[in-house]
Amino acid sequence: PFVPVILAGGSGERFWPLSRRHRPKQFLTLDDSGRSLLQATSDRLVELCGEPEGLMVVTGNDYRSQVLEQLPDMPLENLLVEPAARDTAPAVLYAALRIGRTQPGAVMGVFPADHRVTDTQTFSRVIRQAIALAAGSGRLVTIGITPTFPATGYGYIQRGESTGDGQEEFTAYAVTRFTEKPDSETAQGFLADGGYAWNSGIFVWKVSAILDAFRQHQPELFGQLSAAMDADANGLTHRALRETFPQLPKISIDYAILEKSDAVSVIPAEFGWDDLGDWNALERLLKGEGENVAVGRHVGLDTGGAILYTTNGDDLIATIGLEDVVVVRANEVTLVVRKDRTQDIKRVVQQLKEHP
Ligand code: GDD
Ligand code: MG
Repeated sequence: PFVPVILAGGSGERFWPLSRRHRPKQFLTLDDSGRSLLQATSDRLVELCGEPEGLMVVTGNDYRSQVLEQLPDMPLENLLVEPAARDTAPAVLYAALRIGRTQPGAVMGVFPADHRVTDTQTFSRVIRQAIALAAGSGRLVTIGITPTFPATGYGYIQRGESTGDGQEEFTAYAVTRFTEKPDSETAQGFLADGGYAWNSGIFVWKVSAILDAFRQHQPELFGQLSAAMDADANGLTHRALRETFPQLPKISIDYAILEKSDAVSVIPAEFGWDDLGDWNALERLLKGEGENVAVGRHVGLDTGGAILYTTNGDDLIATIGLEDVVVVRANEVTLVVRKDRTQDIKRVVQQLKEHP
């Protein structure tokens, strides 16, 4: 069997102040589809698998009710709630251990809830091929994206030898190196080299293969979490889990496993993928680069390449003599940031947490 797992527990800080602690971006509708990013992710997976009953979602305590509200067809027992947010490695391990208990032979897919995909048919075909590869080989399969700019917020995958028999629609490669979030200089080198793909953050692997990888590369994390789940197995309270989760290391699956394992394969594919990572993504979502992108009312004088966003229909943003800025007015906050500094919004949010 194939079990798709959606990761929906991120705090979406780079979309602040639209995205707030109690309503991060996966629950927001950013385009005109009427579906939130989480709902759109679920729609794609239902299209791929045929039924919503098999879908699993991992999220944090604070987001439980929003997930249930947005995905009413999902059975309650398929919602895994982390008692504390410890990034994606503990989230993935939690799901793998849970699936492994009842379906040890299953293949699982990991799907971030913050992506846009425009070509869902190609998406379905490449995931099906990834499932076949993972099921038959024990490889940790990631879907690769052709990089278009030296992004520092993504993982970079160096392609090695191609594997497979040349009969499939997509070519799979062994991965020689995985580098998560390189600095700008390194990213430019990867781009110039040409032999690299971006990590889409979509992974497919046998439950047994990812559990082995955790056992090998993150033995402490594996030991702590599996012990807690064993301790809770016969009770209803999840007490051990509640005590253990906050103690787990805060680490993403990319650093914890993908950078370390030598069993990683990549299948590069194009399916209109976009990571709606920060405010700059709005430009790609709403139209091409160059001119201003405005959501809400805006008056601009000598303003170019700006992203202007207001949630309140009565609000007006006026700008004069500005280039390449983002101005957001949402939730009683006004944010003004240079486009090339949007990754640092996280730091402002952090400061606000420390000194509200
Ligand atoms: N359940 C749960 N718990 N989900 C989480 C947590 C957590 O603690 N932290 C993050 N997530 C969810 C987010 O909501 C998102 O859907 C997904 O996991 C990925 O997390 P991000 O925080 O958005 O990761 P990233 O964008 O910085 O980097 C990842 O994705 C890139 C592509 O979008 C990496 O896999 C990169 O290598 C990759 O290039
Ligand atoms: Mg992301």
